Amino acid sequence: MQQQERLLKVLVIGDLGVGKTSIIKRYVHQVFSQHYRATIGVDFALKMLNWDHKTMVRLQLWDIAGQERYGNMTRVYYREAVGALLVFDMTRLSTFQAIIKWKGDLDSKVALGNGRSVPAVLLANKCDQRRHGLCPKLPKLENFSREYGFVGWYETSAKDNTNIDAAITCLVKNIMSVE
Ligand code: GTP
Ligand code: MG
Repeated sequence: MQQQERLLKVLVIGDLGVGKTSIIKRYVHQVFSQHYRATIGVDFALKMLNWDHKTMVRLQLWDIAGQERYGNMTRVYYREAVGALLVFDMTRLSTFQAIIKWKGDLDSKVALGNGRSVPAVLLANKCDQRRHGLCPKLPKLENFSREYGFVGWYETSAKDNTNIDAAITCLVKNIMSVE
């Protein structure tokens, strides 16, 4: 039987230095580096997923620089996206507060054919730094994620490879179940 292929454009967004590039590098290349080099504009990565016996998923990850929130290009970058990972840094409250702005930016600029917002998963990254983290100050992410229309949320670590696969699989499942 012939396998069909589906191309999924997925955005990875969130403030400067929250770990977007690191999450993608971990997911696609199984590597992690402590060294920070800010993304300029946008970067791309591709991962092929043998989704089921009849479907191959070509997952195109758009790694959008945190500094782009202040620019005018997100409308262009978001075009045709079918899902998004929204990332914040568990040790920096400002990056969590910015999630509301990123979600608003996303929903105002891209939607599915049926007018619904694109599936989005919330990632509380750097959970390996939990002891330096915000946990007591954060609202319950379960409630927050429901209130803001996320399809799921995960505490992740690109460093320790925690929940990266689970978060992205959750997103792809949601995308694939929208027809
Ligand atoms: P911009 O491209 O500027 O938007 O940043 P980004 O979101 O792509 O962040 P990047 O992946 O470059 O990571 C920023 C810094 O955080 C780097 O020094 C990474 O090593 C570090 N980092 C990323 N993920 C983790 C993590 O899960 N745990 C820890 N401890 N550090 C991390
Ligand atoms: Mg980056």
